[in-house]
Amino acid sequence: MQTVVSGIRPTGNLHLGNYFGAVKNFLRMQNEYNCYFFIADYHSLTTHPTPENLHNNVKQVLAEYLACGLDPEKSTIYIQSDVPAVAEMALLMSMNAYLGELERTTSFKDKARQQPDNVNAGLLNYPVLMACDILIHRADKVPVGKDQEQNLEMTRKFANRFNHMYKQDYFKIPQSFNYGEALVKIPGLDGSGKMGKSEGNGIFLVDEPKPLRKKVMSAVTDSGPTEPNSPVSEPVQNLFTLMEVVSTPDTLQFFKDKYASCEIRYGDLKKQLAEDIILFNTPIREKIEDIKANTVYLNKVVNMGREKAQESAEKTLRDIREIIGIKHF
Ligand code: TRP
Repeated sequence: MQTVVSGIRPTGNLHLGNYFGAVKNFLRMQNEYNCYFFIADYHSLTTHPTPENLHNNVKQVLAEYLACGLDPEKSTIYIQSDVPAVAEMALLMSMNAYLGELERTTSFKDKARQQPDNVNAGLLNYPVLMACDILIHRADKVPVGKDQEQNLEMTRKFANRFNHMYKQDYFKIPQSFNYGEALVKIPGLDGSGKMGKSEGNGIFLVDEPKPLRKKVMSAVTDSGPTEPNSPVSEPVQNLFTLMEVVSTPDTLQFFKDKYASCEIRYGDLKKQLAEDIILFNTPIREKIEDIKANTVYLNKVVNMGREKAQESAEKTLRDIREIIGIKHF
């Protein structure tokens, strides 16, 4: 069975875009692949979170993924810092990563611009640590979005370089994961573009019904269709797209017909959409709260993941130490 590795940044809450994009794919992958999903807390230190924030964010993200259905019996779900072998591997691999290539990565340049007072060496070394996250489990596939493609390319570069340098075929060269079908792109509520964390257009799984209704009611629309079957503008199409994922086909058809016959009232559509999102969110939101309150369960999940991930990671680390020439007398 092929191995999949994916890192999850412990920042922010999951929104519907994350759910119908990444998370839904994870749920499918865990049935078909040997999956390692981990929370990238070492990586998040590059932005200097406070200790409380770091811990709470890790816990929140873990609870949210578990509530969505990530299953610790099917996949290895772990916290990156529970497997310090990856840190040693990153030290070893950093000897063959060059300053020039690290400085040239887009994510480093972006971060250096965003946080000019904190251009730390961890940011520079980010692609090396990420490569080790992947290579330490000898992954075949990595599900990455557009913004992470360059990091995966660096991973392949480091793996090839290591293989070449030590004249071994040790590392598999990981490929980006692709289910071969276009992902549903979940739009935001602001009329254009994708739902995002920072765009302020997101509907989060943890949103309570009242503020959620308010958000949906304030979604951008247009002045309405003026003649039968007039083309649908982007903001209105976005609301239909959201309906497609949370409402029944009948509901969607009802509003599409109303649109086609120019009888649509956007207020009614938004009200229905908000209620359907609430129906979708509520069980997940309640589960997130239950899981967060269940320390015994969380401990069990984290311990299980740590054990499985350590076993796989330590085996790789032993091999590469040996290949490099760090040997016992
Ligand atoms: N850099 C990834 C992100 O920002 C998170 C990540 C860290 C990751 N290590 C990884 C993703 C390994 C895939 C594989 O989203």
